[in-house]
Amino acid sequence: MTLDQFFYQVFESLPRQGPGCEGATRKVFSYLPPLSKDAKILDVGCGSGTQTRDLAALTSGTITAVDNHQPFLDSVNAWVVKTGLEGRIQTHCASMDALPFKPGQFDLIWSEGAIFIMGFEEGLRAWKPLMKKGGYMVVSDAAWFEPNPPEELVQWWEKEGGIPKTEDQLREKVRNAGLRSIATYRLPEAGWWDNYYVPMLARISDMRKTHGSDPACVAILDTLEHEVEMYQKYKRYYGYTFFVMQNG
Ligand SMILES: C[S@@+](CC[C@H](N)C(=O)[O-])C[C@H]1O[C@@H](n2cnc3c(N)ncnc32)[C@H](O)[C@@H]1O
Repeated sequence: MTLDQFFYQVFESLPRQGPGCEGATRKVFSYLPPLSKDAKILDVGCGSGTQTRDLAALTSGTITAVDNHQPFLDSVNAWVVKTGLEGRIQTHCASMDALPFKPGQFDLIWSEGAIFIMGFEEGLRAWKPLMKKGGYMVVSDAAWFEPNPPEELVQWWEKEGGIPKTEDQLREKVRNAGLRSIATYRLPEAGWWDNYYVPMLARISDMRKTHGSDPACVAILDTLEHEVEMYQKYKRYYGYTFFVMQNG
C-alpha cells in the first residue's frame, strides 16, 4: 500500500471528507431563488457524496457529481442505486481543473470544501464558463474570522500550503472572477465536529492500532490529529465560509 492509498483509507469510511453539515447545506440553499424542476446541478469534489444526497433532497433536477477518486464515487453510486435515483444522479471521475462538460449548461454549481485544491479564484474562473447565464454557484472555503491570528496558527497554515484570506478578500476574488456575490454564510462549529473531526479522530485511533509500527503512516495520522488540535485551539480565528454567487 502506498502512502496515498493509506491517506485515502483514513477518509473513505468517514461520513464526509471535509467540514460541513446538512443544516448548513440546507441553510445556504435557502439563499437561492427556486430552481426549475429540471435544473442541472454540478457537485464538484463531491467525495462520498454527503452534500450530493442533501442536494438531491432539496431539488428535483439532475445532479452530476464529480471527484477524481473513484472509490468515493463508488459509494455515491451505491447510494444512488439503493435509492433508485439513477435517473437523477450521475457520477463522473474527472479533475476539477479540466471538467469535461459543455459550457453554459449548469443552473447551479456546488462545491463544499474542495475549491482550495485549485485555489479560490482559479476555481471560480475555471467553473464559471460551465454556468448558464443567470445561473448560481456555491462554494465553501477556509477564511479568517479574526484579525491578528497567532503566529503558531499562521505557520501551521503556511505548512498546509496556503494562508486563508479574509471574507472581504474572497468577495473581491468573486468580483474578479466576474461573479455577483449574493450571500455568505459561516459553517457552524458543529459542522467541523459531528460528521468530520469526531469520526476522523475515531478512525485515527483505529488506524494507530493497525499501522502504529509504520513511521510514515504514523506521521500522516499525527498530521491529521494536529489539524484537529489547531481547530480546537484556534477556531475563533478561522473557519469555513460559504459563498453564494450568480453569473451576471
Ligand atoms: C475536502 S474533500 C470534500 C469532499 C466533500 N465535498 C465533503 O464536503 O465531504 C475534497 C474532495 O475533492 C476531491 N479532489 C481532490 N482533488 C481533486 C481534483 N483535482 N479533481 C476533482 N476532485 C478532487 C477529493 O477526492 C475529495 O473528495
